[in-house]
Amino acid sequence: MKVTIVGAGNVGATCAQRIVEGDIAEVYLVDVAEGLAAGKALDLAEAAPLAGHSRSVTGGTDYEGAVGSDVVVITAGITRKPGMSRDDLLQTNGRIVSEVTASIKAVAPQAIIIVVSNPLDVTTHIAREVSGLPRERVMGMAGALDTARFRAFIAMELGCSPVDVSAMVLGGHGDSMVPLPRHATVGGVPITELIEPARLEEIIERTRNGGAEIVGLLKTGSAFYAPASGVKDMVAAIVRDEHRVLPASVLLQGEYGLSDVFVGVPVRLGRSGVEEIVEVELNDEEMAALHGSAEHVQQTVETWKHLSSS
Ligand code: LAC
Repeated sequence: MKVTIVGAGNVGATCAQRIVEGDIAEVYLVDVAEGLAAGKALDLAEAAPLAGHSRSVTGGTDYEGAVGSDVVVITAGITRKPGMSRDDLLQTNGRIVSEVTASIKAVAPQAIIIVVSNPLDVTTHIAREVSGLPRERVMGMAGALDTARFRAFIAMELGCSPVDVSAMVLGGHGDSMVPLPRHATVGGVPITELIEPARLEEIIERTRNGGAEIVGLLKTGSAFYAPASGVKDMVAAIVRDEHRVLPASVLLQGEYGLSDVFVGVPVRLGRSGVEEIVEVELNDEEMAALHGSAEHVQQTVETWKHLSSS
C-alpha cells in the first residue's frame, strides 16, 4: 500500500512519520519547496533502523512519485496566524487544493483523497469537484481531531486515561462544530453523570476553540501532532480495511436531512473508502446545531464560488 502526502510542512511531515513508523504503508512526500520533502523523507528513512520499520519513505517536488498511490493526503496550504479564522485561509488554500487535486488526478486517478487543509469542509468540497471522484473516495479529516481534543479534555478533567473516553464531535470544522456530550462516555459511564453541566459547557467551548488555542500558543503556525494522528487513524482504517467508525467530513446526500454539503459525521472506513455514513439518533437541539454548522459550510462554499469565478 502506498500513501502520498502533499505538503511537507509540520502536518504533512508528521503524517509521514506516523504512517511509516506505525508500519501502515510506504509514503511519498511531495512539496513545491525545493528539497523540503526530499530532506524530511530522507531524515525519516534514516530513522527507520532505530524506529524499527521497513517502510519506504521518499520525497520530491514532482507528482510522478505519486503514481500508484492508494491514498493521497492533502495538507498543502497556509496555516492560521493568531486572530485568523479558518475561513480566512479560503482564497489561498482553495486555489492550492484545487491545483493539487488536478495534479493528483493526472497521476493517481483512483486514489482515495483525504483533505486536511483548511477551511476543511470547503477544501474537501473543492477536491471532490476537481477530482470528479465518487463521494466514497473523497473525505476530510477534522472530526477525528476535534473528537480527540474533546476526549483529551474530558480525560484531563476526570484524571482518567484519554484512551478510555469515547466521544463524538460532528459538524463543520469551525466555531460551529457540534460536540455531543450525550454520546460521550468514560469506560461506558455517560460523562453527563460525571461532570457538572456548567463545567461540561466549558470543556465543549474549549473543544470548539481547540485549534485557536494552539495557534495562540505557537503564534507562527497551527496544530500538527493531533491532526497527524487523526490522519493516521483514517489512513490505517482504509489501507488495513479495518471498517472503523470515525467522524469525517463527507458529502451528505439526504443523511441527517442534509444534501450537497460536506460536513463531519460518523462514517465506516475501509478499503473502498467511506463504506457507510452512520446516522446517529440526534435530538432536536443536536440536529439544529448540525444544520446550523452545515449552513455555515454552505455559505463558505458560496464565497468560494464567488472568489474562484472573479
Ligand atoms: C486545528 C486547525 C489546524 O484545528 O484547523 O488545529
